[in-house]
Amino acid sequence: MSEFAGLVAVVTGGASGIGLATARLLAGRGATAVALDLEPRVDPPMHGVRADVTDDGSVRAAVAEVVERFGRLDVLVNNAGIGAQGDVAANPDDEWLRVLDVNVLGMARVTRAALPHLRRSPAAAIVNTGSIAGWAGLPQRALYSASKGAVHALTLAMAADHVREGIRVNAVAPGTVDTPWVGRLLDAADDPADERAALEARQPHGRLVSAEEVAGAVAYLAGPLSGSTTGTVLAVDGGMRTL
Ligand code: NAI
Repeated sequence: MSEFAGLVAVVTGGASGIGLATARLLAGRGATAVALDLEPRVDPPMHGVRADVTDDGSVRAAVAEVVERFGRLDVLVNNAGIGAQGDVAANPDDEWLRVLDVNVLGMARVTRAALPHLRRSPAAAIVNTGSIAGWAGLPQRALYSASKGAVHALTLAMAADHVREGIRVNAVAPGTVDTPWVGRLLDAADDPADERAALEARQPHGRLVSAEEVAGAVAYLAGPLSGSTTGTVLAVDGGMRTL
């Protein structure tokens, strides 16, 4: 498949987990895929550029570097994100601001820098990484859920703002995905293997979602076969929404 041939795709948080799987898949389907991350990962044929999505100057410099090196920007995957645990009272203001800064404002910053280039693309698409936490009332995830609910709302608003410019905006809402992020949470448990088995048993389809499955959904939403789809949030959650 070479549906992204000749196109340049930027994936934030592209050095790990869902972002890495997405950048690899887009590269495999013909894109020049560039991972923007705190620690860029050089993993040919992917490219890596350093960027911190909480720093506007760093984001603007990274997007400018991508366009200077590769000539264009067609697909933006706003995927960088961090987690937070606890109920609404668990985190002080500075932690709320830190998480919202990465998960919500980060998307706004990268999009702002990318928009002038996306407007010049005949195949412009943005895909944001939301979460099942943005919909379902998950316990002990108040701040994280608020950030991802904001991502879902932002996706719809961005879709409305840019549809007439030819820029589509969609999101994926993953369930529990087998990435280094979840690995870190399991490693913190007393018995990581037991905890993993319990986590898998809690999933309606009996296993964790793979990063490649989320990447496949992102590629669909970024590519020509979803050319009439904008403003959607696509669950990739093994049935968590059916609970
Ligand atoms: P991960 O921790 O494996 O990868 C996240 C990447 O984002 C890392 O490479 C990290 O360096 C980068 N990143 C973090 N802060 C950044 C910043 N300020 N600037 C640039 N890059 C930054 O995590 P994973 O699991 O791949 O998560 C990716 C996205 O998927 C996140 O938005 C997360 O909220 C979302 N998600 C993950 C789920 C899961 O179960 N793993 C479930 C639902 C959503």
